[in-house]
Amino acid sequence: MIIAANFKACKTRVQTQAYFDQVNAYLRQSDNQHESIVFVPASTFMHTTIGATLGAQNAYPVANGAFTGETALDQLEEFGIKTILIGHSERRQLLGESQEAVAAKFAFFKKQGFRICYCIGEPIEVKEQGHDTVIKYLEKELVGIDLAYENMMVAYEPIWAIGTGLTPTNGEIDAILGDVKSKTGKEILYGGSVKTGNVKEILSLKNCDGVLVGSASLVAEDYIMMLETAQQIQK
Ligand code: PGA
Repeated sequence: MIIAANFKACKTRVQTQAYFDQVNAYLRQSDNQHESIVFVPASTFMHTTIGATLGAQNAYPVANGAFTGETALDQLEEFGIKTILIGHSERRQLLGESQEAVAAKFAFFKKQGFRICYCIGEPIEVKEQGHDTVIKYLEKELVGIDLAYENMMVAYEPIWAIGTGLTPTNGEIDAILGDVKSKTGKEILYGGSVKTGNVKEILSLKNCDGVLVGSASLVAEDYIMMLETAQQIQK
């Protein structure tokens, strides 16, 4: 399974180093084979030793250039970063990233062979209209995305569940993950208020291939506990 952490705009470089030291020490001494990815902000990019993969939360789809405030491929390559989150709802909503912009980013990093965690998820007013409307909304967030690309996973994160402590029921999560999986043929993660207390039931769902965790991933012990939980699940 895939256990991914999204630090968003949290942690300094020193704190991030300490986190990786702890997680990598755990991974070295355990036989945990699950995929561990930690998406950090560009200000804390660093080289890491064998263990968790360090991923970027965003980058501009160019090698370098006149794009004030952005991070580009050259800065990722300096640290050997080959994993990226694309389409997170906070970037779509707060920073106005259109589906066209998200798709252009996907195409660029696909060409570079990056491992892409592609995010989709509906707002509450869509959720209130029921399963079929949610699926139609999610399909629009897949427009322009080359699903034939192999090195990718899809993260389903209902916007209303992110950072709120609310989650869909396990049945609702599994039904949506199942539909997204059959449409995309990819590994599917669930994200949105995943915590140490609910990670086991979510990872146990038939169609769930992993989790993308924001606030509950910030404490290294909690993230390690989630990696350990993945070990306990037989599917
Ligand atoms: P959350 O965030 O776990 O804090 O709800 C998840 C995400 O936005 O990736």
